[in-house]
Amino acid sequence: MKRDVIIACDFASREATLAFLDKFTDVKPFVKIGMELYYAEGPEIVREIKRRGHKIFLDLKLHDIPNTVKKAMAVLRNLDVDVTNLHAAGTTAMMKAAIEGLTREDGTRPLLIAVTQLTSTDQEAMEKDLLIKEPIDEVVMHYAETAKNAGLDGVVCSPLEAGKVHDRCGKQFLTVTPGVRFADGDVGDQKRVMTPAAAREIGSDFIVVGRPITAAEDPVAAYKRCVREFVGE
Ligand code: C5P
Repeated sequence: MKRDVIIACDFASREATLAFLDKFTDVKPFVKIGMELYYAEGPEIVREIKRRGHKIFLDLKLHDIPNTVKKAMAVLRNLDVDVTNLHAAGTTAMMKAAIEGLTREDGTRPLLIAVTQLTSTDQEAMEKDLLIKEPIDEVVMHYAETAKNAGLDGVVCSPLEAGKVHDRCGKQFLTVTPGVRFADGDVGDQKRVMTPAAAREIGSDFIVVGRPITAAEDPVAAYKRCVREFVGE
């Protein structure tokens, strides 16, 4: 899949989501559906957005025993999403089981990417709560390599880590990066941010952009600006 902007549709209901998507008349953006919307509306919201012609990243971050994740992925594969994800912390066995579950009878499957360490986890929390003593950057790279070796297609990471992930895991291994802000925009609660143009420079394959588009006065214009800066079209 070629470089693209994914809009994080962090809305609480079907109505709010569709009202937002209705603003897009001449383009069909790639959208991310997260836990909030999925748990509120169930699989039908995924089918509905797919029917409207959008590509979908279903961001449910699965993490359980391999058998449970395999069975859950076997359900998700029928939703015909384009990308979905899990936690690399579930280990190689869980990631391999996830791929098995996600693969359809004809051999096709959605792209599967891994969350490494959440950006909300810092070195201190990792050491105290998880008893992981290595530097967090090293842990992120190790999780990325583990995901790659398990057969996954990429990772969610900070745009600041995307270049290093490509160095370690190869150019083909996808980097999907949130934490993107316009040069003249609000940072909000994101700590380490990058502009769409800088994310492109560093080699992100997909940027996930929420509030700079969803909370903009003109979301369609903000989306198109983002695409111009990131994809260059
Ligand atoms: O509104 P904003 O652009 O900050 O939204 C970013 C999106 O990416 C949100 O859906 C957020 O949950 C997600 N995300 C993130 N940082 C991560 C992983 C996911 O911001 N490390």
